[in-house]
Amino acid sequence: EVHNEGGSKRVVVTKELPGERWLKLLTQADCRVEVSKHPEVITSKDTIKKLIGSQCDGVLGQLTEDWGSELFSALQKAGGSTYSNYAVGFNNVDVGAATESKVSVGNTPGVLTETTAELAVALTMAAARRVVEADSFMRAGKYEGWLPTLFVGALLQNKTVGIIGAGRIGAAYARMMSEGHKMDIVYYDPYPSKKLEEYMKGYGELLKSQGERPVTCTRVETMEEVFKAGDVVSLHCALDEKTKHLADKKMLGMMKEDAILINAARGPIHHEEDLVAHLKANPNFRCGLDVFEDEPHMKPGLADCANAVIVPHIASASQWTRSGMATLAAANIAGRLQDFPVWDKPDM
Ligand code: DGY
Repeated sequence: EVHNEGGSKRVVVTKELPGERWLKLLTQADCRVEVSKHPEVITSKDTIKKLIGSQCDGVLGQLTEDWGSELFSALQKAGGSTYSNYAVGFNNVDVGAATESKVSVGNTPGVLTETTAELAVALTMAAARRVVEADSFMRAGKYEGWLPTLFVGALLQNKTVGIIGAGRIGAAYARMMSEGHKMDIVYYDPYPSKKLEEYMKGYGELLKSQGERPVTCTRVETMEEVFKAGDVVSLHCALDEKTKHLADKKMLGMMKEDAILINAARGPIHHEEDLVAHLKANPNFRCGLDVFEDEPHMKPGLADCANAVIVPHIASASQWTRSGMATLAAANIAGRLQDFPVWDKPDM
């Protein structure tokens, strides 16, 4: 589908995007916008090369596409100078290869923070209180009356949340969990999160002034300490060599027998086969996963684990965030191609 036929710069958008502002923005920046109508998730580089064609100034692409040297040099050959990833995550983008091809790269930070953290909270609550299992039980017509032992789960109040990676999303999740459930925070991050620590200090003082137990926030030196201490451990780090398979047999083995592991970051941060084995061997252990090691596939056995809550990479899927991501991704391109003063427009 082509918008603004006569635009002076050709921009390819590999998937339809929500909202309208992103398109208005690119149109105002004098871009001819071509939106691919490809029905499936595009995984083939050849399909993307066809979309780029022989002349293309910029591409707005998806995290399911492998943006490495092959695609960046195809874009450079077509005269392109910019690529914008419709995601905050960068693990599908080889920034070095982009630099070599003189292509600038953008992403969509900021607008996903609260939405993603909220989904991580939803997974935590669903896992703790066995919401999905109980829902399936109801739908299967198995409910025969109230019982003291029916779907007994875990209370989070006053317990400890472990955070791996206290960046924007990790800190927002920590705040929501602590404030919602008066939980202590133990976190690992190479950099201290001043924002989180100050917030927790203030919240702790408020609780104290009300005669309640003040919450604590502790930054620890190793990830092991987080896995050992957490009643819940939530992964919020980027995927790289250091974090790949971080939650493996060894680390899972250090966790409390009835702990909850949450991953709404990137699938390969957990070792999925080890996780399935751990879930099977420890029925009181639970997990909430938004992401999988080999998306869109799940490792064998995961779907049979009633103690796992599993959703299809929807952490950023609120209407506000998804259209905000589109606007930001388009702004990255408009700003680069036309020096377009995107944030000065009163109608933005
Ligand atoms: C991202 O942006 O990296 C999310 O995984 C998808 O919204």
